[in-house]
Amino acid sequence: MSRRLEFEIFRLNPEDPESEPHTDRFEVTETPYMTLYLALSQIREEQDPGLQFDFACRSAICGSCGMLVNGRPALACRTLTSQLPDSIRLYPLPVFRLVGDLSVDTGSWFRQMAERTEAWVHQKLPFDASAEESRMSDDDAQAIYDSDRCIECGCCVAACGVANIRSDFVAAAGLNRIARFMLDPRDRRDESEWFEVLSSDQGIFGCIGLMACEDVCPKQLPLLEVHAYLRRRLFASRLVGKQTDT
Ligand code: FES
Repeated sequence: MSRRLEFEIFRLNPEDPESEPHTDRFEVTETPYMTLYLALSQIREEQDPGLQFDFACRSAICGSCGMLVNGRPALACRTLTSQLPDSIRLYPLPVFRLVGDLSVDTGSWFRQMAERTEAWVHQKLPFDASAEESRMSDDDAQAIYDSDRCIECGCCVAACGVANIRSDFVAAAGLNRIARFMLDPRDRRDESEWFEVLSSDQGIFGCIGLMACEDVCPKQLPLLEVHAYLRRRLFASRLVGKQTDT
């Protein structure tokens, strides 16, 4: 016997001055291996063509479909309804600008974070078109790959207590991004430059250790290990600095 799923979905169109925040209720008959993305598509096709939510890849790669599912950030395309109770509440991710209903603008947040942390390889060499490609060890490549698996869905940011109250905190996604370039042997930033990027409460010292980021990461990134790595690097660089000063 198939379950009847009852959805309570947040609605608001910020572009429409008449629109007020409210929730709408929809019912859907569960089918085998139904994901939240499939249920939402069915609601949009059969009950409310105006329902807004984001998706592109439908396979946990693009990071578009993050939303609060019964209060917890998750990807709609990866969440099976069979893992949820009959009654499902869907709200947009907090922290990010609301586009409408369940759709949020994660792109602007990630762009400003990347600009503030200068999330690109700083080589400090004049461009040489004839230079050979940079090589790196397998271990370095693997470590970078682990951090690069982030799909920038925003789930860790939405789950972060600090990011919810401080718009300038780079959050776990930002810290992971910084670690990715710190690990990269092609990036020639020195310890004092990394200290500049990381050491304020907008960086690693803003984290108060609530640990929700790793709990909700749909790619199971080791975000707490990343935080520990960054703290160790900072601590080591300060020690080195102190020894040189004396
Ligand atoms: S649709 Fe791409 S991650 Fe869900």
